[in-house]
Formats: sequence, structure tokens, C-alpha cells
Amino acid sequence: MTAACNVVVLISGTGSNLQALIDHINAGENPACIGAVIANRADAIGLQRAAAAGIATQVLDHKNYADREAFDAALIEAIDARQPQLVVLAGFMRILSAGFVRHYRGRLLNIHPSLLPKHKGLHTHQRALEAGDSEHGCSVHFVTEELDGGPVVAQARIPVRSSDTAESLAQRVHAQEHLIYPLAVRWFAEGRLQLGDNGAQLDGQNLPATGWQFSN
Ligand code: GAR
Repeated sequence: MTAACNVVVLISGTGSNLQALIDHINAGENPACIGAVIANRADAIGLQRAAAAGIATQVLDHKNYADREAFDAALIEAIDARQPQLVVLAGFMRILSAGFVRHYRGRLLNIHPSLLPKHKGLHTHQRALEAGDSEHGCSVHFVTEELDGGPVVAQARIPVRSSDTAESLAQRVHAQEHLIYPLAVRWFAEGRLQLGDNGAQLDGQNLPATGWQFSN
């Protein structure tokens, strides 16, 4: 493992995005290396995926800490012990404090199941249906202090069908997440993706506010 590609992945649940990244790396399509997977829940299925891939795991249960600041301080300590270049939030369902976000500025990525800036927060698939959106999707973005508001790196779009439910949308959006997140991590590991003063940059060029648009 070269130090330049070390990634720590934070999860809370299923970890299908983690799995997509593991698969991308194992297929030789991504120079990133996952140094550790950290979960805030001991029952996160993604921990089993990490262990099966031979990746170090750690659980930091937020319920064992007095408040958000104390948890985030412990999380920073656990992450920094691994000396990652990049921290990847993959279904990590905790709001992170401003101090945490500032500490990892420019090296903290998240994936969100909507076409940001639409539908920040939770229940995005249901909200896309209720809003009558004709398209929906997912966004990879740099994390800043504004919740789900950091500069967008990449988006994938799907059409919303009249027969869609929140579940069917979630399934199709998930499939797109598994394509764009490994790609964004690859760009970062290759040194092509940066957070500049005016937003996300790919190959030294400012990306549009909606990020690079994935089509498949
Ligand atoms: C993904 O859909 C991701 O976009 C979402 O959680 C899911 C995790 O799935 N993240 C958020 O909603 C963050 N606000 P996974 O555990 O199977 O990767």
C-alpha cells in the first residue's frame, strides 16, 4: 500500500457503497487502498464486508460519548491514527460537527441519494416522488459545514417513472451510487480531484455546480 492512496471509510449500515469501492479496487480499476472501515454501530453489515475483504475494522459507538463533540473528537483520533489522505462517508448516518468537517476540509467525501441541491437530509426518494420530480439520482460531494451542501463532484440521474415507489427509486439510485462513488474516489486517489476556493476541481478545472454528469 502506498501512503498516497490510503482511505478510511465511515459507515453506519449495509455498506453496499463500501462494497462497490472494494470491488473497484480489487478489479485493479482504482489506486485507492482502504486502510480501515470505522462504524458507529457494531451491527453495521458493512463491517462484515470489510472483514471479508481483509480490511481493518473499528467500532466507535456514538452512544458511549457524552455529546457530538466528544464523539467527533474520538472519531478524529481513530481516523488520524490510520493517517488517511481521504475520508469517505458511505452511509454514515451521523451529522458531523463543524470542527470535524474543518479538520478534513478537502479530503472528506460523501454520497447523498438526491440530485443536490435538491432534497438535502433524509427520505430523499419519497420527497422526490412527492415533489413530482421527473428525474432523481445521487450526488458525490465534498463535505463542508453546510449539511449536504458542499461542492458537488459528480451526479448520476435516473428518470422517475409513473410506477415508481420510494423503494424502486432507492434501488435504482443505489445502483448509480455504486458507479459514481468509486469513480470519484479514483479521481481523488489519482490526484485529479481537489476542493478549490470556488468549488470542486477535476484536472485543475472548476466543475459545474451540479458536478460531473455521469451517463451510462
Ligand atoms: C446510500 O444510499 C447513501 O446515499 C445514503 O445512505 C445509503 C447507504 O447505503 N447516505 C445518506 O443518506 C447520507 N445522508 P449503503 O450502506 O448500502 O452504502
